[in-house]
Amino acid sequence: MNVAQVRADFPALRPRDGIRPPTYLDSACMSLVPSAVLEAMEQYYREFPGCAGRSLHRYSEEVGRRYESARAAFARFLGRSDPAGVVFLRNATEAINLVGQGLPWKSGDRVLVSDREHNSNLIVWQRLAAERGIRIEILPLPDDGGFDAGALEERLARGVRLVSLFHTSNLDGHTLPIREITERAHDRGALVLFDGCQAAPHEKVELDRLGVDFYAVSAHKMLGPTGTGVLAAATEPLGRLRPLLIGGETVEWSTLETHALRPPPHRFEAGLQNYAGVIGAHAGLDYLARIGFDAVQAQQYAVNARVTSAFADEPRVHLLGPADPRARSSVFAFTVDGVDPHDAAVFLDEGHEVLVRSGMHCAHSYYSRRGLPGNVRASFYLYNDRTDADRLIGGLRELLEKLPGAGVSGTSARTVASTSRSGSGRPRASGSRGAAARSARPRHRAGRGRGASGAGSG
Ligand SMILES: Cc1ncc(COP(=O)(O)O)c(C=O)c1O
Repeated sequence: MNVAQVRADFPALRPRDGIRPPTYLDSACMSLVPSAVLEAMEQYYREFPGCAGRSLHRYSEEVGRRYESARAAFARFLGRSDPAGVVFLRNATEAINLVGQGLPWKSGDRVLVSDREHNSNLIVWQRLAAERGIRIEILPLPDDGGFDAGALEERLARGVRLVSLFHTSNLDGHTLPIREITERAHDRGALVLFDGCQAAPHEKVELDRLGVDFYAVSAHKMLGPTGTGVLAAATEPLGRLRPLLIGGETVEWSTLETHALRPPPHRFEAGLQNYAGVIGAHAGLDYLARIGFDAVQAQQYAVNARVTSAFADEPRVHLLGPADPRARSSVFAFTVDGVDPHDAAVFLDEGHEVLVRSGMHCAHSYYSRRGLPGNVRASFYLYNDRTDADRLIGGLRELLEKLPGAGVSGTSARTVASTSRSGSGRPRASGSRGAAARSARPRHRAGRGRGASGAGSG
């Protein structure tokens, strides 16, 4: 893969007035889109802007064909033989909600989640616990990225109805053994749901071969447009779900008294759909498939390895997750002694044009149990290159130089420390400009208004 060529395919990465744009290291939140995605969406609005499945005119027929072709593409991409198992939704959050709200729960049914799930795979179960009497079992995971099969077996033995786990962690990028977990869960009669948000963009997933019942994906983390995602389900378990929403498009027919639902997947796609988004997401998949996951992984690993080795001997930078970047190739998550994560992120942005995420990454429970205000997460993808790695390294090195005791005098060195671990575990208001950020700002500009950053929320 030629990363320069790849970068040229992404409008957000093209030089502006001859200047390289900011280094985008937040692809775990949302990836950038290649031109092919933008063109596919524009083509829909320009050439066949109809609604699928309702009218019989040519626009409608064309959008219907494209929409179903996108479904077949997602099925192939995720290793499902039956495209009817692919339900188009807004995001993985909606996909997990569909399973949670859709399964016929009995009071006392157990759902097993890990101790470090994204809120999207936690809150839904908490609400079901409160409203329907399900019980949440917690699987503790080792911090080094390992997996304790004994702990899983011990929970499964209590009689679990659904195992619902991340496939790859948004906190540190490590991946769980999906095949082993699925087999063990099925052996005990449990269904499995994997939150594939951070895995599907980076590795080939063969859902039928693995036997996974439900798999949730956000296409906007894999080169697609925002607000697009799928639930990729096996046929039988999908048939057990009650739709989250019903209305137009979900029924075969209706009378004033009753209705008959269409078979899956249509019964789950209520109302007029995000045709442009789905068609764009299909173009994103095609782009990824052309590049190939071997090349994607090699590129992000190279960037991550460069960053990781730059700080391997730095005692003030604490890495989250496995030490080996191969075990977390898309993520470099860290804290810096004495620096609030939000301050570090603003410092990197305003001083070095490096865009990272900071805070609790929608996993508040993980940080609050450890008394941490969160951390900083740089997440990599196929378009990140050595310059991106070096910008991050340069920014972090400058931040370290400003810390007290680093031999740097002046107010900035003192004030960086003043923000140290001040976080209460709550999101900070309005961009939380700390001393570190202030000290960096003059390099480029004198600050700017930021809305509520939302960092740490979610
Ligand atoms: C592991 C994981 N699960 C779920 C989500 C929620 O994704 P979305 O907001 O696209 O639904 C994210 C988003 O960052 C994530 O990283």
